[in-house]
Amino acid sequence: MKLIALIIAACFTLALAVPCCLSAQAMSSVAQTPPMGWNSWNHFAEKVTDADVRAAADALVSSGMRDAGYIYVNIDDTWEGKRDANGVIQTNEKFPDMKALADYVHSKKLKLGIYSSPGPKTCAGYEGSYNHEEQDAKTYAAWGIDYLKYDLCSFSEIMKQQAPNDTAKQYAMMREAYAKMHRALVATGRPIFYSLCQYGWDDVWKWGPSVGGNAWRTTGDISDNYDRMSVIGFAQAGLAKYAAPGHWNDPDMLEVGNGHMTRDQYITHMTLWAILAAPLLAGNDLSKMSPETHDILTNRDVIAVDQDALGKQGDRVWAEGPYEIWMKPLSGGARAVALFNRGERAAEMTLHLDAVGVKSAQGRDVWAGKDLGKLTGSYATTVPGMGAVLLILR
Ligand code: GLA
Repeated sequence: MKLIALIIAACFTLALAVPCCLSAQAMSSVAQTPPMGWNSWNHFAEKVTDADVRAAADALVSSGMRDAGYIYVNIDDTWEGKRDANGVIQTNEKFPDMKALADYVHSKKLKLGIYSSPGPKTCAGYEGSYNHEEQDAKTYAAWGIDYLKYDLCSFSEIMKQQAPNDTAKQYAMMREAYAKMHRALVATGRPIFYSLCQYGWDDVWKWGPSVGGNAWRTTGDISDNYDRMSVIGFAQAGLAKYAAPGHWNDPDMLEVGNGHMTRDQYITHMTLWAILAAPLLAGNDLSKMSPETHDILTNRDVIAVDQDALGKQGDRVWAEGPYEIWMKPLSGGARAVALFNRGERAAEMTLHLDAVGVKSAQGRDVWAGKDLGKLTGSYATTVPGMGAVLLILR
């Protein structure tokens, strides 16, 4: 007892003495569930402007997405201008006033995200944060930024230059570069969600939390087609144990609504991302969203699976040929169970309830919006080609 009291007292004193400890806690408190919002890259790429970001913020509100949980409005690469004489990063002509943009986004009860790189240049060749980490973190905080995606890009060149042919040393440099920006963000005192983007190198899920990551990309870039999306998504098997409240695996942003997948394929995308407790960052043009896209993105049951308070990522429990069953434990002993058909033709799939650790349960088919009553033993259903059925078992 005495020892416990001592430890508590020591932690408390430390937290008071070192404000960074409190801020570090604040940083993980912004990530108790996977982040939800929108990011400019998948649709607008390097063309994104201040007006596009405002339109996205407006649409998050008018579409009901904000109230469904999508609160981050994230500007990806290509907002960056040059540095002034003191080294302070400026925006380029597409973003005339970042502080005003942040105020606008905040006035809608949304949060603003930004993008940079530990390297001298971002992936699109704009100004990165290399040797300006603290300065940039301060600038972001002064603007009112709430989320930073920090993308390795040209830092990999620095790694190669400074530690040629020494992969272990290169990876150590990479980890330190991420830790350095984390310290800089913490020092601002502003809770800023910290998203690592280095494509999963060096098994980032094993060390992401130790450099302050609230999420880390586990793969290279997604694109708006079933092959790429499904290769990325299904390759997440086995990573569940690395996710927890405060830090999440990130298989990249959503492509739902960008136009190159069918409804069934987008349902697979959304179902899989929810089972994976992945960040749900819409990547479409929200101002021109079809009712179908809107319904996929805002299905409350699917969002509840992703955002479940237990904070456990789901994993594959069964696979045979093109058929896979994944399960995500939910709070209160419930389970989300996804039946995926990666084949081209519709097929009947049978879920044996004991495969997900239950004998009988009340079932709900999420995409059909239908309660299934009491299920016992097994449940058979038709799954469309390249589609998915998502069940909640309580
Ligand atoms: C990398 C990232 C993408 C995007 C672009 C921007 O490719 O993985 O998500 O941020 O850079 O240049």
